[in-house]
Amino acid sequence: MLEQLDQNLKAGLAALEKLSDEEALLQWRAEYLGKRSTVMEAFTVMRDLGPEERPKVGKRANEVRQALEAALEERRESVRQAVLLQALETDRLDVTLPGRPQTLGRLHPVTQTLRRIYKIFAEMGFQVYRSREVESDDYNFTFLNMPPHHPARDMVDTFYTSQGGVILRTHTSAGQIHAMREYCPEPIRVILPGMCYRFEQISARYEMQFTQVEGLAVGRDITFSDLKGTLSDFARRLFRVEVRTRFRASHFPFTEPSAEMDIECFICGGEGCGVCKHTGWLEILGSGVVHPNVLRHGGYDPAEFTGFAFGMGPERLTMLLHQIGDIRNFWRNDLRFLEQF
Ligand code: DAH
Repeated sequence: MLEQLDQNLKAGLAALEKLSDEEALLQWRAEYLGKRSTVMEAFTVMRDLGPEERPKVGKRANEVRQALEAALEERRESVRQAVLLQALETDRLDVTLPGRPQTLGRLHPVTQTLRRIYKIFAEMGFQVYRSREVESDDYNFTFLNMPPHHPARDMVDTFYTSQGGVILRTHTSAGQIHAMREYCPEPIRVILPGMCYRFEQISARYEMQFTQVEGLAVGRDITFSDLKGTLSDFARRLFRVEVRTRFRASHFPFTEPSAEMDIECFICGGEGCGVCKHTGWLEILGSGVVHPNVLRHGGYDPAEFTGFAFGMGPERLTMLLHQIGDIRNFWRNDLRFLEQF
């Protein structure tokens, strides 16, 4: 038995030398260390031996088993190393290959314009006030001095929802009332940016969705000249030139008096061209002195408080800044357009 064990050890070690992959090692393990292997059998046979031989065989069998196990471990490690080396050799990394480019997103042109607008008004002390896109009829119309059946309601085509009195706001002016009710009786200086919706016939000039930036100042002794000064200064800062502005009388139900502001056409310098429709002027916003009824709906006493408000379309401004001919480009999501900014 002892001799058999020695032979088995020798044979095992010799066989192991020739193996070079994990699978073969597993087979080898079954053969030399498995249940039916010589070593394991020795443990069974041992029980029938006499008291003199039994410990000798037991000891030897243990030694052989340990030797085989140790040899297997060693071989396994060198096989692993060899496989790794080979992988490193064949899958060699070419560090000179150019990497995959990371494509960077960018800000939407309207967002860029919005940020310029925020910055300019921030410098004049106006905070950004966010208000909702889904509005009630009251906030969008009634509180802005357009009660039900007021003819001015016909000037915009509104998206109504199946819930009575709930609409998509047609202008950011609706937010004026939210701001007033939140701040009253404190003075206010805010701009209200955001998306508005109108059921328009879409064309190069009109879209169903567009952003607006509303402005609202409420306080004591605020006059029309504050409005004029603020907005003329804004135009100069946005267009970065000594741009001339003019105010034309207009009508909005929520302001009295009301005015639209034009800037001198910077394409033709006021001479008249296709962009300004040969008038020399470009309209950029509506504005006015806040109507007493609106102040009242916001909680302010018109005998004590006055204010001015304005509303502009950042898409229009972006079109002027970049000479873009069609407003539909903005929300069409065509990368060929967006990547230019
Ligand atoms: N809400 C108006 C519109 O959508 C724009 C506007 C005009 C806003 C005059 C104002 C304002 O605050 O005073 O056409």
